[in-house]
This record gives sequence, C-alpha cells and structure tokens, in this order.
Amino acid sequence: MKRVYCLIGCLLILLTAAHCAADEKLPTAEELFAQNPAPDVPLTCDPRMDPLLVLVNKEVGLPSAYIPELTDLNLPHKPGVATQQMRPVTAEALGRLFKAAEADGIKLGVVSGYRSYGTQKSIHAKKVAQRGKATAELTSAPPGKSEHQLGLAVDVSCASINYRLNAIFSKTEEGQWVEEHCAEYGFIIRYRAEWQRVTGYKVEPWHIRYVGPEHARLVTSLNIPYEIYMDYLKLCWDSRPHLPVSGSTAQP
Ligand code: DAL
Ligand code: ZN
Repeated sequence: MKRVYCLIGCLLILLTAAHCAADEKLPTAEELFAQNPAPDVPLTCDPRMDPLLVLVNKEVGLPSAYIPELTDLNLPHKPGVATQQMRPVTAEALGRLFKAAEADGIKLGVVSGYRSYGTQKSIHAKKVAQRGKATAELTSAPPGKSEHQLGLAVDVSCASINYRLNAIFSKTEEGQWVEEHCAEYGFIIRYRAEWQRVTGYKVEPWHIRYVGPEHARLVTSLNIPYEIYMDYLKLCWDSRPHLPVSGSTAQP
C-alpha cells in the first residue's frame, strides 16, 4: 500500500513539474519588451484604446449596452444556425479566410459570431445550471466578459465533426488549416491549453479573435496569450515619446 502512495506521490510531483514547466515557458511582458521594444506592428494610438485591439477577459468586461457596428456573415454555416453577424472589418477578413480555405479544399462553417450581452447571459446561465458555476466558467464567459460581444470573435467548425465546438477540431484537417493560416487573415487562436492559467479558459481551437494581420502574426510567432501581448504593447506604447495633448499643460 505504501508503495502505491509513493507512486501516486511521484506522479503528482511529475505532473506538477510538467505544469510548472509549461507555465515557465511563457515570457513576461517585461522580458518581451527588453528583447524588442519597438516591434514592427501598427501602434497608432494607445493599444488599450484601439477598438480592434481591445482586451476582453474575465477581468476586463464590456458594458451591457455595448453593441458594435454589425454586418451579416454571408458564409457557409452550421446547418440550422441563423445567419451570424460580426463587425464589418472582421466579416470581410473572415470571408477571405473562408475563400482561401476553400481554395485549399477545406470547408469551414460559422457556428457563432457576434453575441449580445443578453444572448451571452442566457447561454451562460444555461451552462451554469447544467454544470455548476466553476466548471461552466472554464468554457463560457459571463455576460459582458465575452469577446463575442465585441463582434471580433467567431467560432468555426466543420461537417466531419458535425460542427461541434470540441477540442477534437484541432485534430481535423479543417482545424489544422485554421491553426496554420488564421493569422494571415488577422485572427489569433485565443485559448490554448497551456495558457489556461492566464486566460481562465480551457482550450478552444475553434474560437478565433480578430486583431489584424500584423498583430496576429506577431502574437502567433511569440506564441503567447493575448493578455501578455497587450501588456507588452502597453510597455512599447508608454516608452514612446508622446506629444503633450493640447490643453494638458498648465496655463500661466
Ligand atoms: N467560450 C468563450 C470563452 C466565450 O464564452 O466567450
Ligand atoms: Zn467563441
């Protein structure tokens, strides 16, 4: 019996060590800034204020009244699902992504695009009722905390897995195509298994978030969660010389 406990103990230590090793690999914003304080990406304003870069997560939410400009996604979608909407810039980029995928023989389908505060509230309440709050919140954002409310995030899947939103999507050729090419069209895969400690969500290979191609390429090549990327961009922006805003200087 002692041996069994010993074995379980060793296993737990190994698992913890592996988990910490995965965490350790994530660079800090300060380390990234020290390596490259001026990345070649558009920074035309404070990244916290840029409507296409805005960070939404469990800590940073959106007002319930926030509704972006929206347009219909005239793209193949999951059968039975109504036409979804997104911000025009994202809808256009997603259209190009779908076209490029199709040219490579890959057929994707939209499952969920923009979701209002109210829609997210009912989806989330249903998940909490089914699974309990703690488990539900590993996969479903509370109202006001979902990137879907920004109109910049979309869930995509494929026929071979019945358009399910499941981690198995990453094993399909469609999921692998998305992983390989989405940054070219301005999207990042927002939730990866090894980032759960930072994002608070389990892996979601189907959930892609628009940030524009330059930022998407950099986030993808750095292989970091968007939270760390935004902290890095803030350091880059704050280190730049800024002209004083008119009226901000004390008048004699
Ligand atoms: N599934 C993601 C986290 C959302 O609900 O926005
Ligand atoms: Zn999603």
